[in-house]
Amino acid sequence: MRVIIKPDYENVSVWAAQYIANRINKFAPTSDHPFVLGLPTGSTPLGVYRELIKMYQQNKVSFANVITFNMDEYVGLPADHPQSYHYFMFENFFNHIDIKKENIHILNGMAKDIEKECADYEKSILACGGIELFLGGIGEDGHIAFNEPFSSLSSRTRIKTLTSDTIKVNSRFFNNDITQVPTTAMTVGVGTIMDAREVMILANGNKKAKAVYQGIEGAISHKWTITALQNHKHGIIVCDDAAASLLAPETIKYFKDIER
Ligand code: GLP
Repeated sequence: MRVIIKPDYENVSVWAAQYIANRINKFAPTSDHPFVLGLPTGSTPLGVYRELIKMYQQNKVSFANVITFNMDEYVGLPADHPQSYHYFMFENFFNHIDIKKENIHILNGMAKDIEKECADYEKSILACGGIELFLGGIGEDGHIAFNEPFSSLSSRTRIKTLTSDTIKVNSRFFNNDITQVPTTAMTVGVGTIMDAREVMILANGNKKAKAVYQGIEGAISHKWTITALQNHKHGIIVCDDAAASLLAPETIKYFKDIER
């Protein structure tokens, strides 16, 4: 695993955006050979999206031959609901870049047959040749996508019940009213994320320090689904000093040393 420790959120965002743009450019995607990118929502990736939009405007990267798969979506929210992940992605990223609409994949929170929706999502990922790079954030309890604690580390796309803690944390987007937060979501599984050829997880701020500590120094456990990354051949955690603050000094020294 690579761990990149930057002084603050700004530097985390710039580093991650440049990394993604470089990966896309090196891959030299075409319509027959597209770059498949997994994407998250949440406040953490906002800086990366802002930087990628800037790079697109400066002709440093194009998304014309990029296919995206989002991690998750609330069950019961239509795409035009301001708190749906559909709405978030178009507002904060897709409306500002040259991605083709048909290349965007987001689970349909209004699907009548949720099981089929999830199974079809896995099939679409496979049909596109798998995900090249999966970008993700992390919950305070170490969840990736909506794979809450004790999710199977080999789980696939499915419906999950959200924990009270996640509902409480996410209520900040729903006027701080927990009764407005959906109680279930569809999410790619830990196994789906780990099948990507590369996985990059972003974390910033003190609130994520425990999850980052567990992800890097903790034992692999379904209690902290982020720990599955330790088994990935190409896992990267990009975090700021605050999120790295519970790591042992020698851990920080090691990762800073090899990245110098
Ligand atoms: C939600 C999302 C996750 C995200 C997490 C953290 O639970 N399903 O994908 O990583 O929130 O969000 P934030 O970046 O806002 O802290």
